Amino acid sequence: MKANYPINKFKDIDTPFYYYDLEVLRETLSEINNQIQDMPFLVHYALKANVNPKLLKVIKDAGLGADCVSGGEIQAAIDAGIEPEKIAFAGVGKADWEINLALDHDIFCFNVESIPELEVINELAGSKNKTAAVALRINPDIDAHTHHKITTGLNENKFGINMEDMGKVVSLLPTLSNINVIGVHFHVGSQITDMTVFQDLCVRLREIQKFFTDSNIQLKHFNVGGGLGVNYEHPNHFPIPDFEAYFKIFKAHVILLPGQTLHFELGRSIVAQCGALISKVLYVKEGVQKNFVILDAGFTELIRPAMYGAYHRIENLTSELPEEEYDVVGPICESSDVFAKDYYINKPRRGDIMAIRTAGAYGEIMASQYNLRELPKSYTSDELSPVDA
Ligand code: LLP
Repeated sequence: MKANYPINKFKDIDTPFYYYDLEVLRETLSEINNQIQDMPFLVHYALKANVNPKLLKVIKDAGLGADCVSGGEIQAAIDAGIEPEKIAFAGVGKADWEINLALDHDIFCFNVESIPELEVINELAGSKNKTAAVALRINPDIDAHTHHKITTGLNENKFGINMEDMGKVVSLLPTLSNINVIGVHFHVGSQITDMTVFQDLCVRLREIQKFFTDSNIQLKHFNVGGGLGVNYEHPNHFPIPDFEAYFKIFKAHVILLPGQTLHFELGRSIVAQCGALISKVLYVKEGVQKNFVILDAGFTELIRPAMYGAYHRIENLTSELPEEEYDVVGPICESSDVFAKDYYINKPRRGDIMAIRTAGAYGEIMASQYNLRELPKSYTSDELSPVDA
């Protein structure tokens, strides 16, 4: 089964470009809202996955908050109309201007990753006569069983404050008069498909709730980060991640007192499946050992295969010829510019249109201009009418 894309429209557009099916995005968001209705849950969309304003508008309209990791992302969230009281600001290295921007907008909360950062936010908030709402990012030391480059919740990673240092933080708090600790924050990694990881996180959360209650600190907000994985192999069969199974874990294993809220920072699971990178075949090259399909898109448009060895399904939208084996590569002058090796695809010809699927998250936003290439443009299903009859 291939995606139902407006191929006739694609033929008139210069490639490569990103195509976003906003119906898939809307259905994804409405499934999230279904699953969390009547619960004291708030989902913040992790802007790092994709800041395309056309997507941000749909996400904002669905009522989600934002999880930002830079001043640029805070500005993009605000420009998209997301209310500052729904914006969380995370990141191990917040610069002073970024902290000031967040303070000026009175955002919901800073997710703080170290003691020195707490001290700087306290000082900057003090000079504005403000109190900064803070969630302490705790490193829960949980193995997310995912790619090592996107694992974050182990003690060996640079993220968060270790539980052993929490006593030190708690004793420092009375001296930080411009900091109000309202919660704790975790994030253990990305593309997590083993649901027991989230169950382990809930167990750790309960231990931490007890630690703070015993320390006489009443927290209102618990933020369990993002990380829910998507199905890269079968995007047509699983266009919407299993949010029911995901939220069920938190409903079953987190105990919230009245007035307490559970926050989520989902990125990939919201936008990955709605996006595809659309590219044309430039050349089909028969090698000695292998045959190559050379596309006009490369790792400048989608770096995930080169950077993480990530798999993305590739469809030849304009060929029904029998499948043959190829290496699907880009035009960049580096041997890592490969989308897939030994890949079976409908026999390609010059000019065929390929869709590289599940590219809505960490695709367009990680594009570069290496080789002085242009950044990719984007089109949505709302802009291009459905498949012509
Ligand atoms: N919250 C925090 C603190 C994070 O660091 C991340 C992602 C998220 C939330 C969102 O996680 P998600 O729901 O998207 O898994 N470029 C890599 C992924 C890097 C993820 C970084 N942090 C990739 O292409 O796979």
